[in-house]
Amino acid sequence: MSESKPIRLVAFASGGGSNVRAIYHNIETGALHAELVGVISNNSQCGALVHARLHNIPAFHISRKQFDSDDDFVQKLFKVLTELKAELIVLAGYMKKMPEPVVRAYKNRMLNIHPALLPSFGGKGLYGHFVHEAVLNYGCKVSGVTVHLVDADFDTGAPVLQRCISVFDNDTPETLAARVLKEEHIIYSQAIQLFAEERILVDGRRVRILEKE
Ligand code: GAR
Repeated sequence: MSESKPIRLVAFASGGGSNVRAIYHNIETGALHAELVGVISNNSQCGALVHARLHNIPAFHISRKQFDSDDDFVQKLFKVLTELKAELIVLAGYMKKMPEPVVRAYKNRMLNIHPALLPSFGGKGLYGHFVHEAVLNYGCKVSGVTVHLVDADFDTGAPVLQRCISVFDNDTPETLAARVLKEEHIIYSQAIQLFAEERILVDGRRVRILEKE
């Protein structure tokens, strides 16, 4: 384990929060040299917020609906992220588009996880269950997971890590989602660890992984 300070992570989530829980678990077990310094959700009932409160991690319900303008919303996000001294932002099942000023400010320091092999089956409306349904309806033989940098659009940032998952003849969206999610819980922490070890070199759309020193 590196002697350096753990990287300060802030997670954004909207739903069940299993990815946030997996990241927390990997930190606790020493597999990930990071500190989860905050969890933010647009959804007050989000599982990730419940988990954060349970473990004394600062938890914030921040939704565009609470503000009169986009600007006020963005200012609030900046305030919280600055107070938390966020070094890396991870979107973990965050179903809202991150405002552009925040994306710009955290360029190459914001990750998303998508439950398919981008650029297939991504973009607006393709999230969670809909992704797996679309993969099966197309008749794909493989699906997978993509961890990617976040840019101004949905699911279009450069991939950092990808993993394939076989599609079985008898798969339903639920069975495929479960296998993909299991891989998400591994690969997201691996990607974060690469950032923690400063082994990521962004070269246009090519994200190169540097050898361990
Ligand atoms: C995950 O499968 C994640 O990849 C997906 O939502 C699920 C959230 O699960 N995200 C997207 O589809 C974003 N385009 P979780 O709340 O249990 O982590």
